[in-house]
Amino acid sequence: MQVYLDYAASTPLKKEVLDEMLPYMTQTFGNASSIHAFGRNMHKGLDQSRRNLAKLIGASYDEFYFTGGGTESDNWALKGIAESYSDKGKHIIISEFEHPAVLNAAKALEKKGYEVTYIKPDSQGHIKPEDVKKAIKKDTILVSIMFVNNEIGTIQDVKTIGSICRENDVIFHTDAVQAFGYLDIDVKEMNIDMMSLSAHKIYGPIGIGGLYIRKGIKIKPIIDGGAQERKRRAGTSNVSGAVGFSKAASIRYDDLENITFELKKKRDYLYEGLKDLDIRLNGSENRHPGSLNILFNHVKGDTLLMNLDLAGIAVSSGSACSSGSVNPSHVLLSIGLSTQEAKASLRMTVGDSTSYEELDYVIEKMTEIITRLR
Ligand SMILES: Cc1ncc(COP(=O)(O)O)c(C=O)c1O
Repeated sequence: MQVYLDYAASTPLKKEVLDEMLPYMTQTFGNASSIHAFGRNMHKGLDQSRRNLAKLIGASYDEFYFTGGGTESDNWALKGIAESYSDKGKHIIISEFEHPAVLNAAKALEKKGYEVTYIKPDSQGHIKPEDVKKAIKKDTILVSIMFVNNEIGTIQDVKTIGSICRENDVIFHTDAVQAFGYLDIDVKEMNIDMMSLSAHKIYGPIGIGGLYIRKGIKIKPIIDGGAQERKRRAGTSNVSGAVGFSKAASIRYDDLENITFELKKKRDYLYEGLKDLDIRLNGSENRHPGSLNILFNHVKGDTLLMNLDLAGIAVSSGSACSSGSVNPSHVLLSIGLSTQEAKASLRMTVGDSTSYEELDYVIEKMTEIITRLR
């Protein structure tokens, strides 16, 4: 049996999504910027997708920009704002457990003379809004705190953090790559100024994402070229990707309560099945519905991962972007785990198509492997 429990790394494309995308690659193909009928058709698909995605997050149509994915959105948010507001200040606040897309964009800015404050999450994996408040200085231009952590799934109080930023006239960006399609999001109500999204975490295509930019915010492009995306993000529009992204998002938000209920049920079933194996949950109850990060006492995570792989079970140690590295997860270290504990932890994420039969197999195999390894 082959079991995929790594839906936080990426999800399979849904058939309904592919069906919606295909005509834009085979029938109404062309360049959305062309003025002929082919181009206009493509532009219409792009337009409708933008409208739909903007509506789903409570934004207006002209506040939603397509990008090449979550990584690009995060880089654009940080680097674009840093460049545009450098006359106001050069201080940026992020959290210690951001995705590498934010973390390394901030590091690149440090090299250019910006100052970055890294907020530490508590042991449950939550950023305290008052810590953000304390870190804001006169020259702070941007706060970037992720909505849902990609390794432990914990949900951050973005609404309060956003309101603190508003009161202090600081731009608030959130990386919502793991939140979109799993939680209700309203950017206006949640005081979010900028938000990064990605399609492949919600059963859409890889290589397309979005950045919500509140009207009135100045931001320099990081990709120069043509006049696409209101002259802010150059490059021939990925229309089939946008259409797929939009369809994938609609599928989720049309039935969000049910989808998240089923995910939670499966995730908790797996946890219950493993509970007696001397394990500890990393993170808290307030987390992504499909996410489970577990510390397996007295086992090496990478050995466990490899043994699971041999049994056909795909899980992850840390995020997909940093797996393969021998370093312990920066997320788990940030919430206070020791190096050894971090290395003995695994992330398992269930998805829409995970079956109980698969979970029973995982529980059986894990019990067998862990008992043997110990
Ligand atoms: C929280 C978070 N931010 C950003 C990204 C990067 O998104 P993408 O894979 O679309 O570049 C990911 C994906 O792993 C993520 O989980």
